[in-house]
Amino acid sequence: MKGVILAGGLATRLRPLTLVTNKHLLPIYNKPMIFYPLEAMQKAGIKEVLLTTSGDHAGHFANLLKAGEDFGMKLYHAVQQNPKGGIADAIALAEEFAQNEPILVLLGDNIFNFNLLAARQKFEAVGHGAMVFGVHKDTQSKQYGVIEVDQGGKVVSIEEKPEHPKSDIAQTGIYMYDAKAFQYIKKLSPSGRGELEVTDLNNYYLEAGELLCEIIDWWIDAGTSYDELLHANQQVAQMVKEGKL
Ligand code: G1P
Repeated sequence: MKGVILAGGLATRLRPLTLVTNKHLLPIYNKPMIFYPLEAMQKAGIKEVLLTTSGDHAGHFANLLKAGEDFGMKLYHAVQQNPKGGIADAIALAEEFAQNEPILVLLGDNIFNFNLLAARQKFEAVGHGAMVFGVHKDTQSKQYGVIEVDQGGKVVSIEEKPEHPKSDIAQTGIYMYDAKAFQYIKKLSPSGRGELEVTDLNNYYLEAGELLCEIIDWWIDAGTSYDELLHANQQVAQMVKEGKL
């Protein structure tokens, strides 16, 4: 399995913090934000990772992370030309890199301490399809995709920021895909906000009966607002001091 970390976007909601730098280089307690998904890749045993960023800041990431030696991996850099293209548009950049192998995709501003290794092994044992990761959250806030699962944990629906959420399970920015993802992405059309939505991609897998879901216990989307960024800093500081992260 190869890794893809998405660290592009304009992060207009965090201006002026993001006027001259990329959101994923902002600090979360004692490290730049981008270190957290890189460490999650490392814990999952992923040895080759593609980092997609915006053109303006690609050099900053290269200076900071080089070729990934500090993380025990080979790190490749790609530039997302359209920073407003959406998550699925950024995943498409990984087609050649993936070489038909499955991929683990992480949003660069997601912080969690769940070890993805067991889920990776489960996914690889199945050998095809996709896996999403949910977390119990307040889904009324309309910030997240919402995953509805049945009693047996099977996914029934995924809706992007619905008016009336069917469950309290938010879709995190952690995804595993087989190589069909790239064919599905080519069929996607931009949503109302003009993006190729990861939820639409996941729905292709759901329709094909090939979507698995794992629930994780703790997760922060650090890059959505000043308050989330502050909250992420406070929570991470506490967890580091308690030895939980
Ligand atoms: C994206 C996804 C959404 C998911 C969220 C997690 O939202 O579209 O389904 O719940 O990431 O961070 P966005 O941050 O692009 O609004």
